[in-house]
Amino acid sequence: MENQMILAIETSCDETAAAIIRNGTEIVSNVVASQIESQKRFGGVVPEIASRHHVEKITLVIEKALKDAEIEPKDLDGVAVTEGPGLVGALLIGINAAKAFAFAHGLPIIGVHHIAGHIYANALVQKMEFPLLALVVSGGHTELVLMKEHGHFEVIGETRDDAAGEAYDKVARVLNMPYPGGPHIDRLAHEAEIGVEFPRAWLEDSYDFSFSGLKSAVINYKHNMDQRGEEIIPEQVAKGFQDSVVEVLTTKTVRAAREFHVKQVIAAGGVSANKGLRSSLEQAFSKEGIPFYVPPLKLCTDNAAMIGAAGSFMFKSGVRSNLSMNGLPGMEL
Ligand code: KG4
Ligand code: ZN
Repeated sequence: MENQMILAIETSCDETAAAIIRNGTEIVSNVVASQIESQKRFGGVVPEIASRHHVEKITLVIEKALKDAEIEPKDLDGVAVTEGPGLVGALLIGINAAKAFAFAHGLPIIGVHHIAGHIYANALVQKMEFPLLALVVSGGHTELVLMKEHGHFEVIGETRDDAAGEAYDKVARVLNMPYPGGPHIDRLAHEAEIGVEFPRAWLEDSYDFSFSGLKSAVINYKHNMDQRGEEIIPEQVAKGFQDSVVEVLTTKTVRAAREFHVKQVIAAGGVSANKGLRSSLEQAFSKEGIPFYVPPLKLCTDNAAMIGAAGSFMFKSGVRSNLSMNGLPGMEL
């Protein structure tokens, strides 16, 4: 398909997003309506509120993506939409909008895995080379994914409890920082010289991760300090926590990259926006001599451009969904 144009839609969590992608690699338009302001009041994402926001915004967001791209529906070759995982009520708003649009304009539709989207955000900035190792770290995921070719995903390690982003958000709460806490912890961590010493969960002989012990260690530390009537230094707590997360993520990613002789390592998902993690992975892989990439910040957090990139590759390989598509909250990669 020459000059393939895809409309992509993403509503799996708290961003209502639409984008137009040309040939799987070029962003023609990229619109994201965030609900973070209204979810902040609740300290996290409330599913019913997320769905209501998506309903209010979805049509506007799709229209804006078309307008920004200066194209008409007849210029499109297909519609890609996040099928899962995510909040089912939120997913269904995007899926139903995608189905209605595809039906009205006689376009094929394709359901995309949200994490495949995060990984394919990289296709928008550079050529993906295989075998490729992706560290996917977001509010809902912490996974090491090995890709031997386009569309082939092997999860070689994953979290056994909290996702990295979830741990960030919970620790931020302990430190009285607003939701989403990741960026705040990241900023605080850079303001301290030394961090509080927290444990690292290595889970020997496995590429799996665990962050709930670390989260509890932070909570206990705060509790003990409170009991002793001492003030915690939030910067030092943030640094100690971040150092633990970053060291484990970096060490395991390097170990896997060596074992599978990968040609490229990429980081994906909201937590890959983390400055400490980025610089640690950059340093480690420059030492290893393996190319390492992270997409620019606005392609790291949830957006539809990444769904369009993944969807375009799927369209090209002949994959199609149909109008009976449903939201899959627990969809496997
Ligand atoms: O990928 P994403 O936008 O949504 C999910 O699919 O989950 O990731 C959101 C997560 C949140 O937990 C947020 O706190 C975290 O990414 N995050 C960060 C940073 N920016 C966003 N975590 C650590 N450091 C950051 N700079
Ligand atoms: Zn995400």
